[in-house]
Amino acid sequence: MKTLILGIESSCDETAAAVVKDGKELLSNIVSSQIDIHNIFGGVVPEIASRKHTETIVEVIKQSLKEASIELKDIDAIAVTEGPGLIGSLLIGISTAKSLAFALDKPLVGVNHLEAHISAIHLQDKIGFPFIALIVSGGHTNLYLVNDYLDFKLIGNTRDDAAGEAFDKGAKMLGLGYPGGMQVDKLAKKGSANAIRFPRPLNDKSFDFSFSGLKTSLINFVNKNGVNSDEELNNICASFQEAIVETLIKKTLNAAKKYKVENILIAGGVACNSRLRELSKENIETKGFKVFIPAPNLCTDNAAMIAALGHYRYKNNDISDLRLSPYSTNKVNPKSYTS
Ligand code: KG4
Ligand code: ZN
Repeated sequence: MKTLILGIESSCDETAAAVVKDGKELLSNIVSSQIDIHNIFGGVVPEIASRKHTETIVEVIKQSLKEASIELKDIDAIAVTEGPGLIGSLLIGISTAKSLAFALDKPLVGVNHLEAHISAIHLQDKIGFPFIALIVSGGHTNLYLVNDYLDFKLIGNTRDDAAGEAFDKGAKMLGLGYPGGMQVDKLAKKGSANAIRFPRPLNDKSFDFSFSGLKTSLINFVNKNGVNSDEELNNICASFQEAIVETLIKKTLNAAKKYKVENILIAGGVACNSRLRELSKENIETKGFKVFIPAPNLCTDNAAMIAALGHYRYKNNDISDLRLSPYSTNKVNPKSYTS
């Protein structure tokens, strides 16, 4: 019997539902983005995000079932993001998932959003364990040693601003709109990465990340020099991006060396960045490591990754009860650890 998992994601500004068969085959992947609404305010407005999730979630789930050519009764379990994320937004996904689980008498599986970003790779490639995973998203920059499908050991954490946050806040101050990562990436292609030497933050032996100092140095640079032409804007974007990407690559490479692993995964929204993808080939693959990066639609927030991790949790009998509640800051699942 094939296992069918319905995944539901609503941690931030994307309402998403997906159906995954046997943990690897993607039958549908529906994402309804709220970016256009939040763009007007220059960032995600939590109250608006929750309301939008409420309006769209049922339709998104219906579409995911339709595209997968299945009915609710065919589903084996319902997986849902329990955190980290915006509490009001998470509650919409969780309440919907609980209602379905209760009404259909199906198991409910709560999953961690960051660990799910890692599991996205199983929908695309066969990656050998153990591997190092760099998760770069809007709210987190974390390094994990991944020993198995459900064995995620957090080895590096976000000390302040995450890489995505640095991209977004940098872009906002440059007047590039929200979310700014993609815009910076686009303009950086036309600029020189060596034009300005921004600091490489937390350039130490730890695997933690800190990008708030880099953000401040961008603000100071722009306040002092201004942005006087398109060429200058492109150079600022390219140089700022280079500082972020070089830091990410260096720490990831150090972690792979320390833990003596061959395979490296880069995932989360920032993994869409073209320079990060390019430099990971140039600076990591040439040193004998193999780099895996999910396709862009599996890097940015989606429910396919939630269903993928949900599959392994379900198979492991890691079932949540109906008291499942959301958490805003990253919570480490004790069952995720072997040591
Ligand atoms: O994983 P994700 O979709 O949502 C969170 O879990 O936070 O990541 C969103 C982040 C945003 O900060 C966005 O600016 C960034 O991913 N991002 C990029 C690119 N595409 C998305 N950052 C840099 N370059 C890109 N091409
Ligand atoms: Zn995410």
